[in-house]
Amino acid sequence: MSSLPVIIPKDIDKYFFNRKKEIKQINANLSLLDANIANQLLITGYRGVGKTFLLKKILNDQPNKYLTAYIDLSKVYAGQKGELTEEEVIKEILNKINKTIEEDDKTFNKIKNTISNFINQLKLKDYDLSNIKLSDIELPEIKSNYLKLSKFAMKLPQIIVDSSEDIKGFIIVIDEFQLLKSLKNPEAFFWLIRSYTQEQFNVSYIFTGSVSQTGEIIRMINGQNGAFGGRMLQFNIDPFTKDQTEKYLNERLPSLKFTDDGFERFYSCTRGIPAYINSLSSILPTDVKCDEELIKEKLLLNVDQIVIMWLYAWGTLSSIEKEIIIFMVENEPVTWALLYNELNYAKSTITKYIDSLLNKGIIEHTFDKKYILSDKMLKTWLEIKYENDGIYPA
Ligand SMILES: Nc1ncnc2c1ncn2[C@@H]1O[C@H](COP(=O)(O)OP(=O)(O)OP(=O)(O)O)[C@@H](O)[C@H]1O
Ligand SMILES: [Mg+2]
Repeated sequence: MSSLPVIIPKDIDKYFFNRKKEIKQINANLSLLDANIANQLLITGYRGVGKTFLLKKILNDQPNKYLTAYIDLSKVYAGQKGELTEEEVIKEILNKINKTIEEDDKTFNKIKNTISNFINQLKLKDYDLSNIKLSDIELPEIKSNYLKLSKFAMKLPQIIVDSSEDIKGFIIVIDEFQLLKSLKNPEAFFWLIRSYTQEQFNVSYIFTGSVSQTGEIIRMINGQNGAFGGRMLQFNIDPFTKDQTEKYLNERLPSLKFTDDGFERFYSCTRGIPAYINSLSSILPTDVKCDEELIKEKLLLNVDQIVIMWLYAWGTLSSIEKEIIIFMVENEPVTWALLYNELNYAKSTITKYIDSLLNKGIIEHTFDKKYILSDKMLKTWLEIKYENDGIYPA
């Protein structure tokens, strides 16, 4: 291998490294579907830590008896210009379930009648499902009956499992789930899913996204008074340790060499986050031993390339969110009161945008109720930009 991928590669197994423990843990919970125990999972972790890659690997490796569907809400969100609606989310879930069963003709033919009957039972007369297309089954029209649509979508996976001897479970991953926070009523949506999962013994949902473990949305879905009330199994995916990082690079990019202090600097820059490990190593020379100075210099010159995953995210933030982040770059750790006193916004505005940044996993609480930036590389990027250009990125 001559370089490491900066996006999720098609050939998963060629590039995927380790995560043996996490895979074992997650699979152990999913494999209970066979015994009619459907666990619901919540997987958190820093941006770029490898949640999506890990789940793609896990879905990819499931035995045939489990069907899987992967839903990326950032795609729905982008298509909707940032106004996520329940209907669009449900439609996307339906589309992906459909894609899964379409791929498997044998299974699909077996379950076709069951699905048709189910549709008739629901009498989705006033629905226009024209842009959903469930293979060659004719769907009635939908207009505005969201409840019927959601009932159909939420019941479908269990019905599919029940209609075939060979299928023992359905695993549905909802990635970037923190975006559900932008629904008009995210709590109602979580309760909806909860109400159906309660009576389904062979469907596991996995929610994942870059959200801090203490974010409001985590409480909403799995907190004491949240829809799942702590019943969701929560895993946090950690960055690679120093040892793992070293092994990873030795194994996958042996041409890259470090002095001792060079490796220390590399690890403290990337903090073991694979997205940064891959992007930083891609701009380092392989014909010399990289030392601390060289890494500092390369980082300074190529910072945009390294924070590539933030360039898009930064563009989607509101001006108040950016103002809070920039204030924190210069002043963190900060208290709520300090933000309120220094930034000149109404109390409710400050609270609203702090919540929003917590939900996006951009800031987090410290144990003493202060706020810090979750990602030091984001901070480094903003500092370098300011130093180079005299202003922060717009
Ligand atoms: N186990 C791994 N082995 C090799 N590379 C990895 C691994 N995990 C992640 N990466 C690399 O890091 C990049 C980021 O991973 P991924 O997109 O899965 O992160 P994420 O946690 O889903 O981030 P986000 O919160 O932004 O969605 C991937 O494109 C991949 O190149
Ligand atoms: Mg991801």
